Amino acid sequence: MTIELFDAAQRLIRGRRATRAFLPDPVPDETIEAVFALAGAAPSNSNAQPWQVEVVSGDARDELAEALLSAHGAGRRTVDFPYDDSIYSPVQQRRRAAFGATLYSALGINRDSDELRAAYDAKSLGFYGAPHVALLYAPESGDPRLTADVGMYAQTLLLAMTAHGVASCPQALLSFYADTVREVLGVTGGKLLFGISFGYADPAAEINAVAVGREPLGETTRFHQFRRRLAE
Ligand SMILES: Cc1cc2nc3c(=O)[nH]c(=O)nc-3n(C[C@H](O)[C@H](O)[C@H](O)COP(=O)(O)O)c2cc1C
Repeated sequence: MTIELFDAAQRLIRGRRATRAFLPDPVPDETIEAVFALAGAAPSNSNAQPWQVEVVSGDARDELAEALLSAHGAGRRTVDFPYDDSIYSPVQQRRRAAFGATLYSALGINRDSDELRAAYDAKSLGFYGAPHVALLYAPESGDPRLTADVGMYAQTLLLAMTAHGVASCPQALLSFYADTVREVLGVTGGKLLFGISFGYADPAAEINAVAVGREPLGETTRFHQFRRRLAE
């Protein structure tokens, strides 16, 4: 690999960040098409490409945001993939807590206030002001391997957006209103995994300056070589 490509990969991968305040300016159609075409190059089990993607803009975007907000207000939560805190191990819970503390302190929100967090959720359902949102569906079976392929697709999509100067925020929150999304978009089949709000980042928004770190490499990755065994 050339040094140039590695440098570009660093800039691309580390340059992507969850953006939580967008300008209203739409992304040109040609750019959107180029981004989604590139994302389709993602790898998948047996090249099955098991993702189904709904890209929402304009009036449809506004209608979806309105419907989500009203579902939120009425407490009409429906998920295709079950979700609660118990999915996280203690070490993952610790990482989540550190992230939550960083985010909520940047927002000036007391994390223990359910009311303030609900108000922030309501705001988040407006896609943080992004003019576009993509909803990612996994196959109806919810098979974990095929669902993981949708994750591969999602990261490829996020990087394709970054390469085009388009900011993004993956939002599991959007999947908590799966029936609402299905109704508004007329989606049949599939399971809603999460949404990705996208557009141009608001450079003046302080929340977009929040950067979260990662665990040291050794915490998540072990390198096995078995040199001795090979020599025997
Ligand atoms: C599948 C998935 C779901 C996410 N859901 C949300 C969400 O509902 N709301 C939100 O503000 N951020 C959400 N995020 C963004 C994460 O908080 C963010 O990726 C993580 O804290 C690391 O920060 P970074 O993306 O800026 O590197 C989600 C990310 C992923 C990958």
